[in-house]
This record gives sequence, C-alpha cells and structure tokens, in this order.
Amino acid sequence: MPVSERNTVSERFQEVPSRWKRQHLLGLEGLSAEELTLLLDYAQSFRDEILTAEGTNRKIPLLGGKAIVNLFFENSTRTRTSFSLAGRRLGADVIEFSAGTSSLSKGETIIDTARNIQAMGVDAFVIRHNCPGAPQLVAGALDGCSVLNAGDGTHEHPTQALLDMLTIRQRFGRIEGLTVALVGDIAHSRVARSNIRGLKTLGANVIVCGPSTLVASQWEELGVEVSYSLDAILPRVNVFNLLRIQFERQVVRPFPSIREYAYLYAMNARRLARCRDDVLIIAPGPINRGVEITPDVADGSHSAIIDQVTNGVAVRMAALWLCLSRR
Ligand code: CP
Repeated sequence: MPVSERNTVSERFQEVPSRWKRQHLLGLEGLSAEELTLLLDYAQSFRDEILTAEGTNRKIPLLGGKAIVNLFFENSTRTRTSFSLAGRRLGADVIEFSAGTSSLSKGETIIDTARNIQAMGVDAFVIRHNCPGAPQLVAGALDGCSVLNAGDGTHEHPTQALLDMLTIRQRFGRIEGLTVALVGDIAHSRVARSNIRGLKTLGANVIVCGPSTLVASQWEELGVEVSYSLDAILPRVNVFNLLRIQFERQVVRPFPSIREYAYLYAMNARRLARCRDDVLIIAPGPINRGVEITPDVADGSHSAIIDQVTNGVAVRMAALWLCLSRR
C-alpha cells in the first residue's frame, strides 16, 4: 500500500467515536445494537485494511506506548494468540502472564496479582478464567485500567461471539432476520450465552439445539427457540454454529456415548445435503472431528472455521482499540 494511502487509513482510526464510552468489555449483555455494530464495523476495517496488507503495513501504531497483559488461567490457542497479535499489530507491548509460574502458587489473590502488575504501568488486562465473573471482579478492583473478558467459565466469551457475528455478516451482509442455530453443549457454553445476547440484539432468530440433558427448556426465557432434533431444523437454518462438548466442565456424562451423540447431532455430509444451498457452518474451536462435525464438513466449502480465526484478530484489534482509546 502506498504511504499516502496508509496515512489516510491511520488517520481514520486516530479518533475513537464519541458513541463508544466503555472502558471494559466484560460481556455482550447490555451492549446496544449501535455498540455491537460499531465493534463489527471497526473489526471489518482492520480486517480489510491491516490484516490483508503485507509486511510492515500490517501494523498500525494506534496503541503505541500502551502495555497489555494476557492473564490466562485456562488453556487457549485461538483467543490468547489472537489477542497477542492484535495488541502487537496496534503497536502495544504485550506481556504473557503464566499463572502456573507466578506467585499465585504462593497464595497471592487474583486481585493482588492484578494490582501489582498494574503498578508496573499496565493499561489493560485480557483475562480468561474458569470461574464465572473473574474478569468483572478484577475490573471492579482496578482504577484506570481496561479489562477484556477472554472467556470466564460458563458465563461469557464476548470476542468469540463478535467474531462469529462478523463472519456471518461477511457472508450474508446482515445479521437481522437470519436464523442461527447453536448446536451442542449449550448448558456449559459461554460462547452460546454471548452469541444469544449479540445475535438477539442485532435481530437474528436463534435456535438452541442439543440433547435435553444439555439444553434445558428454560433457555426459551432468553427469547430463543429450543429444539432437541437437529434433523428437524436443517432446512430452515442459515447458520449452524457447532459447539464442542465440554467434557471438562461436566460432572456426569450427559449422554450414553460419543457415538450416540454424533449419530444424533453431528453435522455430516448427509445432513448438509438437507440444508439450504447457502448454509454457513461455523464453530468456535477447538473442534472435535467426528463428534460435533465430520472432517469433510469442517474442511468443506460451506465452512468458515478458519476464516473465523482471522476475524478473531480483527475483532480483538477493534475491542482493544475502542476500550483503550475511549474518550
Ligand atoms: N474459541 C476459543 O476460545 O478457542 P481457544 O480456547 O483456543 O482460545
């Protein structure tokens, strides 16, 4: 990209819109349609103008001089790496905090840990924790520092839902009026909760689908349709978001065998053939091939699973930039 054009792009991102007031991104609950659209619009701009560029043009130093700490208490491939890349693409210093080798093992609390790290001149924490509410707890204990939720227990995973919605919007040009089915382990899914909040606010129809042991009828109170039969909903769904069975969060196994689950709920070629011609298949990852999705569908032409990961960097750039540069 010529230098003159690059300056124009950089200038356009210099000022965060006055409609964005949030210091933290703790969940999609309570975000307005305008705020969600703003996040998606800027993510799309970062994707188009920075992530598709080459070499040094892939950096835009909007957060130069800022320091971001990745505070991950749970394993992660996509979220951690993409938050790191997003911060670095924006020119920030990114520090990877490793809970296992920290003084947490000596009894220090998460709040004391965060306060001590903030005292070193840190501007933002990106937090993943298996305890719902951990990012909110830290946000409430710190002054003048942004906190972004990278997934807290079964509560929320806001940037995952944003990248899912960005992927849907890229394919269909809209969210409103689409029917999106979340299939699988709804009970333990923070991705489902954030998706429902974001998709409903932007006007989508949402179906949650899975075995009754993983999809309680009370989900209808969130304004979604509940279905226990994937086969019954195939022809009327625009987007299938296939969620992983989270064995690590289950106290008792909710179905007799993985084979039986896959027989009833895996998206496979036979089921895909009964879907709409333009159906979009997405999954937050990690995917378990042969459980919620067969390899041919995961790697097939309807799947945008790898594209979602690229969108993850763009969404996290937008979230970091908006929260750290708000007026
Ligand atoms: N989708 C998601 O959160 O993946 P990771 O656990 O690898 O970050």
